[in-house]
Amino acid sequence: MPERSLAPRPPWAGRRILLGVTGGIAAFKAVQLASDLTRLGARVDTVLTEAAKSFVAPLSFEGVTGQRTYGRLLSTLGSPPHLNLAGHADAVVVAPATADLIARARAGRADDLLAAILLATRAPVLLAPAMNERMYTHPQTQQNLAHCRSTLGYRVVGPATGALAAGEGEGPGRMSEPFEIAEHLGRLLGTGGTLSGRRVLVTAGPTREPLDPVRFVGSRSSGRMGFALARESWLRGADVTLVTGPSALAAPVGVTTLQVETAREMLATVESVIPGADIAFFSAAVADFRPRTTASEKIRRRESTDPPVLDLKRNPDVALDTLPLRKKGAIAVGFALETGRMHENAAMKLREKRFDIVVGNDPGEPGAGFDLPTNRVTLFYGDRDPEPLPLQSKESLAGELVDRAVDAAAWNRPP
Ligand code: CTP
Repeated sequence: MPERSLAPRPPWAGRRILLGVTGGIAAFKAVQLASDLTRLGARVDTVLTEAAKSFVAPLSFEGVTGQRTYGRLLSTLGSPPHLNLAGHADAVVVAPATADLIARARAGRADDLLAAILLATRAPVLLAPAMNERMYTHPQTQQNLAHCRSTLGYRVVGPATGALAAGEGEGPGRMSEPFEIAEHLGRLLGTGGTLSGRRVLVTAGPTREPLDPVRFVGSRSSGRMGFALARESWLRGADVTLVTGPSALAAPVGVTTLQVETAREMLATVESVIPGADIAFFSAAVADFRPRTTASEKIRRRESTDPPVLDLKRNPDVALDTLPLRKKGAIAVGFALETGRMHENAAMKLREKRFDIVVGNDPGEPGAGFDLPTNRVTLFYGDRDPEPLPLQSKESLAGELVDRAVDAAAWNRPP
């Protein structure tokens, strides 16, 4: 599986994040979070409670962030540290957030540096609770969390269900993984983003059309472009549904990911989602044909003297067949993989499938095509000249495509 890219990028790059670490066994995972956020380009200031220092050393955070850490509320170092840190933070994340910290935050206490920062900041706050299952499910903790969510407007991520500390078996209480917290923090940093309150649909990956129980007709599509589009849209505040054929990629954090196998399954799933979508990206490499019949038993070499003939029939066209279901004013972005006559074919697909934008690419070009981390594309529009984009990673291309789709949307223009 390709490694998650941690190159500096918006919305983390250039932002200041205050990381609060409290005293729980999950504190060791906060070092990974501090490291990921720093690699994504953020400046991370870490505040450790006294109890946190029993689990993890301040030096570990200094090592990965390149910044000094903070612990004392009362200090003689000039301006009060809680006001200074709270005032500079673009977002505050507490990971792990123990039951005690959550109770103190709810009560509005200012009895240590971290609690005082939570009172003094006006930046968005994210809590990643981590504690024993019985402490987490206790009505006190549940009420405290409900208050933090609804009255204080904090974002609460997790806890996950899984193996608990001290051989306590399985249950809710594990801190969410650092990459998930970093993603949620990204969405929080983009609060009020260009897509907040909007619904985005993305089709991705190949489809598999079965020949028999073990073989299929399909393509080499990895799903990377579609997964990157879904992630990018979610980071900008959208409610995202990703309809994907088989892919080795991990489902993007926060995105409703619906797995399908065949073109017909993809069509049925898209039909149920598309009426609500403000933007639809059709990035799936849908198989245009499927075997006319699917054998119920494995096709055996020994039982046929001549090689079997592949008899194919036409598959539905997901983008075309769902056209009447598109919401009024919705933006549709299609993809065209062309090995020749790019302009003519892209223009024909723009018209025929009523796309607002067609993303054309030629897999023969260096760095472009299937199963690669990069792509070089040309954008085609109905009302202006084609726009060639430079070779870039699929993540960065996803950012450009979401920008173009938002620019094309009438709902984005002032009345
Ligand atoms: N598409 C689709 N369902 C299909 C085929 C294509 O939804 N059965 C969508 C793709 O996701 C893409 C666009 O239509 O956004 C164009 O796909 P492409 O395969 O390039 O074009 P086709 O219409 O299949 O035409 P051709 O194979 O002749 O190039």
